[in-house]
Amino acid sequence: MTSATRCLSVCLRAGVLLLCADSAALHATDWIDLRGATPVHGDAAAGASKATVCVACHGPNGNAIVPAFPRLAGQHADYLYWELVNFKRGTRPQSPMTAQAANLSEADMRDLAAYFAAQAPTADAAPASPSDRGEVLFHNGDPARGIPPCQGCHGSDASGIVDARFGSWPSLRGQHADYVVARLRDYRDGKLTDSSNDFVMRGVAGTLDDESIAALAAWVASLPPTAAH
Ligand code: HEC
Ligand code: HEC
Repeated sequence: MTSATRCLSVCLRAGVLLLCADSAALHATDWIDLRGATPVHGDAAAGASKATVCVACHGPNGNAIVPAFPRLAGQHADYLYWELVNFKRGTRPQSPMTAQAANLSEADMRDLAAYFAAQAPTADAAPASPSDRGEVLFHNGDPARGIPPCQGCHGSDASGIVDARFGSWPSLRGQHADYVVARLRDYRDGKLTDSSNDFVMRGVAGTLDDESIAALAAWVASLPPTAAH
């Protein structure tokens, strides 16, 4: 071994050790604190050309037709961006999105978030039937079970909160019921723990039984979608 290659090998070993130490340190606080996060800015026009692959599942302009695929059109850009970050980090459960997000750059995620946020939501051909129980739970919660009113964090009409500080809190209005059910179960089952937002929603979902989840999902899905506040 020449002195140059010996040096390289020592350096590499030192580097690997440093990386291991870093990832161990990272693991201790391996979640993203979104409290006070800076708003995300992307280029919607650039996002349009990057979105061709996405609309295969998320529908024209992000108005998904298949119930298991979430609607993206009109959602808060900050929320969309941070979810893409979660997929790229591999911390949302394995799904078709895991591979989709793997090769997105920081600029891609910002541009795609800006693009889908700017798209007009369109109603489903056959929206879900409304649920009275879902509506009551959404607006009043159920104190006896410890269920908080959803409107406090998702807006009285479920289209999000009018406050830029909460841009990473999603609109639920017109979101597909099947998707909402799956997502609430994931929070409840502790599968989503990658950000301060996940912890907030995990606490909420922990109070929900399957019947309440179905009623809430049906109610939000029955609302004609509008752009998020
Ligand atoms: C092969 C189908 C498929 C393709 C292609 C696809 N997605 Fe997805 N997407 C999904 C599924 C399924 C989910 C729900 C995953 C879950 O909840 O675990 C999802 C979820 C999402 C979410 C989270 C939405 C929310 O409300 O939390 C975002 C954001 C997203 N996709 C963006 C994109 C973007 C941007 C692209 C293109 C780069 C893309 N998707 C391509 C299937 C797809
Ligand atoms: C204290 C605030 C708070 C309350 C109350 C709350 N949520 Fe949430 N919710 C959040 C936050 C923050 C997120 C984003 C979590 C993340 O980043 O994954 C979220 C995400 C969600 C999502 C995921 C949306 C998507 O597109 O994937 C659903 C569904 C949801 N909430 C439903 C509800 C329902 C139903 C209730 C009432 C039982 C409720 N939330 C009450 C803060 C709240």
